Amino acid sequence: MNFLSLIESKREGKTLAPNQIENFVREFTAGTIPDYQMAALLMAIYFRGLTTAETTALTLAMRDSGDVLKFPRDKRPLVDKHSTGGIGDKVSLPLAPLLACLGFRVPMISGRGLGITGGTLDKLDSIPGFKTLLPAGKIVEQVQKTGGVICGQTDRMVPADKKIYALRDATGTVPSIPLITASILSKKLAENLDALVLDVKFGCAAFMQIRTDARKLAKAMVALGNECGVNTRAILTDMNTPLGRAAGNWLEVRESVAVLEGSAAVPAAGSKFAGETPALHLNDLRSLVLDCAAHLLVQTRKAKTLAAARKQAADCLNSGAPRRKWDKMLVAQGADLGAFNKKLAQDSTAPVVVELKAEKPGFVSKCDARLIGEVIRDLGGGRLTKESAINYDIGVDRLAKPGERVEKSGTLCRVHATDSAQAKAAITRLKTAFEISARRPGKTSLVVEVIE
Ligand code: URA
Repeated sequence: MNFLSLIESKREGKTLAPNQIENFVREFTAGTIPDYQMAALLMAIYFRGLTTAETTALTLAMRDSGDVLKFPRDKRPLVDKHSTGGIGDKVSLPLAPLLACLGFRVPMISGRGLGITGGTLDKLDSIPGFKTLLPAGKIVEQVQKTGGVICGQTDRMVPADKKIYALRDATGTVPSIPLITASILSKKLAENLDALVLDVKFGCAAFMQIRTDARKLAKAMVALGNECGVNTRAILTDMNTPLGRAAGNWLEVRESVAVLEGSAAVPAAGSKFAGETPALHLNDLRSLVLDCAAHLLVQTRKAKTLAAARKQAADCLNSGAPRRKWDKMLVAQGADLGAFNKKLAQDSTAPVVVELKAEKPGFVSKCDARLIGEVIRDLGGGRLTKESAINYDIGVDRLAKPGERVEKSGTLCRVHATDSAQAKAAITRLKTAFEISARRPGKTSLVVEVIE
């Protein structure tokens, strides 16, 4: 293949043929195209874009660069959710067992944290004994047996994306809608799904900060997913404020269990979470988990309307079955349930916990997800470089959310840190993450749009 003429074509804004795209993906994955030439093509794509047909060809070629999961025929639809990432976004954890209990098969292939945003695999690594790296055969076996799995991509799945993403990361070509679309969907298509719901976030802590950009990405992914035979929908959700009341790997696992255990929006009396947080406890998180499940129920025709689907999902969550399924999924992936429950019973597993208190009474009008994410990363809860080791026990919890009333000296959040000096520095920075106003701020919606 004359790769140079292909770079020149794209540089001039011409359209590449599907076979040209298939060839360069195959050859780059095999190592016969040098990084400097591929980097030049990626930059040309960044500026010139790709047509829908080109993006489809790129996505399918990337999907086919490695193993695609193969499942036996079964009446349970194969479904998954993908989030573009945020702070406190632990939706996948309660959602996977909920979907398994709703009669789906859930091959949830997840990722690690990117930038300040958390990653599902990092959260799961905080569970004693839990294995996130499984061979393809075991992924399929567990999905068939338990209904769901949450694990990482195997080395043999979508190797083209691994190589291309690493090069994009090093060449300033990540924020390109066709390249993001191909990267995300090639991985989801390798799961062989029937339906997919995409949670595309916008706001200060999101990958796409501007809502119109998030909408463009969502539309591109929905069109391509459907074109490739997967019933795909997207919801646009607000990521200016963290999701739920906890951010930080283990604290998010703990909050996910609270969602699975809460028979209503308020944790039941006698539960280990009772009295821990005020009445709005878990509302946004629980609500988003139910929304994702409801869309998938409608997409797969297991429910006629979104309202009926939401009720079906809420009834299932309230039944306690997803909480028991969660334990089964943990055991199937090697977790030590005894050690997990012991850890869960502790209020904190970090050496130091310090409260940030409100300096005046009023209504919370800002709880800045970006700043909170940066503080958690700097405390050791995220990565500054790819090689950084994560401290799973640190983070923030008991976050006061916009619209809530706080009294003077009431809790705005708690910081879980490794020592007092770190905690003190974090508290000083977190003071600017919150604003308190005399008047209650107007209500904002978490899900602002659905793209079908
Ligand atoms: N996440 C991905 O997997 N790929 C991208 O290109 C961006 C975010």
